[in-house]
Amino acid sequence: MRVLVTGGAGQLAHAIRQIWTGHELVIPDESVLDLSRQDSIQRVVADIRPEVLLNCAAFTQVDRCESEAELALLINGTAVGWLAEACEAESARLIQISTDYVFDGTGTRPYREEDPTNPVSAYGRTKLEGERQATRCSKHLIARTSWLYDAWGKNFLNTMLNAAAQGRSLRVVDDQWGAPTTCRTLARQLKMAAEQDWKGLVHMTCQGETTWHGFAQAIFEAKGMTVDLGPCGTADYPTPAKRPAYSVLSGERRRSLGPDLMPDWREALQEVMDHPEPA
Ligand SMILES: NC(=O)c1ccc[n+]([C@@H]2O[C@H](COP(=O)([O-])OP(=O)(O)OC[C@H]3O[C@@H](n4cnc5c(N)ncnc54)[C@H](OP(=O)(O)O)[C@@H]3O)[C@@H](O)[C@H]2O)c1
Repeated sequence: MRVLVTGGAGQLAHAIRQIWTGHELVIPDESVLDLSRQDSIQRVVADIRPEVLLNCAAFTQVDRCESEAELALLINGTAVGWLAEACEAESARLIQISTDYVFDGTGTRPYREEDPTNPVSAYGRTKLEGERQATRCSKHLIARTSWLYDAWGKNFLNTMLNAAAQGRSLRVVDDQWGAPTTCRTLARQLKMAAEQDWKGLVHMTCQGETTWHGFAQAIFEAKGMTVDLGPCGTADYPTPAKRPAYSVLSGERRRSLGPDLMPDWREALQEVMDHPEPA
């Protein structure tokens, strides 16, 4: 397949490069494929004529989205509509990556794809608009994931390791529940989904659940590091954007569609620790 990938400098796109072997990947620089410009999208899609367009680009800084909501809506929402239109014109398939933050987090069991959305942040609202815009391409797959990280990139794992390396004592929230997911496992599941032509809305996260504090604890345990780590509440750590208290996603639909390549989050973390670059 010829696959056009956006957001090439991001952490998920890095995993796609390593995992999507056997396919022709075209990953233009942001200066060439800039999602904030419709003409740039139209020109690149018409030039490359991809069979699949995998949209890994997004405005992902959740707190900044609150103060820059217009730009966030442009990148996470409007531009996805432009991508969908351009794909439709080339009969290409669009794979859009979305987020657990489309839910408000008041649920008490893993969210299913058909559960009502109700984002509580500008980031969540703009990503939900992106989901809506993606459906303008008749051959679309929307993959919702959560708490993405890997050995590379700007993410919670690297933030924790850097803070611990500076000898800082850490207080991490223990009242937000989710599923940490490695970019490489998502890349593997997405590759299979693309090869098997999955369509519609599908949750793709690692299995199990934990809090950010539980995740931090597991990181330091896996590294064999002794760190002064303690729990705190969301209320003790105010941020511009509100986050869902519980945003675990159900994998039922994924399992009904084909082989489930998403391991338990602890197993996925161990793989990152053992092999910083995926085998
Ligand atoms: N990270 C998470 O925890 C998480 C959780 C759930 C879902 N997701 C979703 O997963 C996908 C991949 O996220 P990620 O973690 O890989 O994000 P990331 O590392 O922040 O990568 C996103 C990339 O998009 C680029 N980008 C921003 N504006 C652009 C524009 N106008 N044109 C072209 N590229 C642009 C960014 O460039 P700059 O860095 O230069 O802005 C960045 O390289 C996103 O759709 C995200 O919403 C992420």
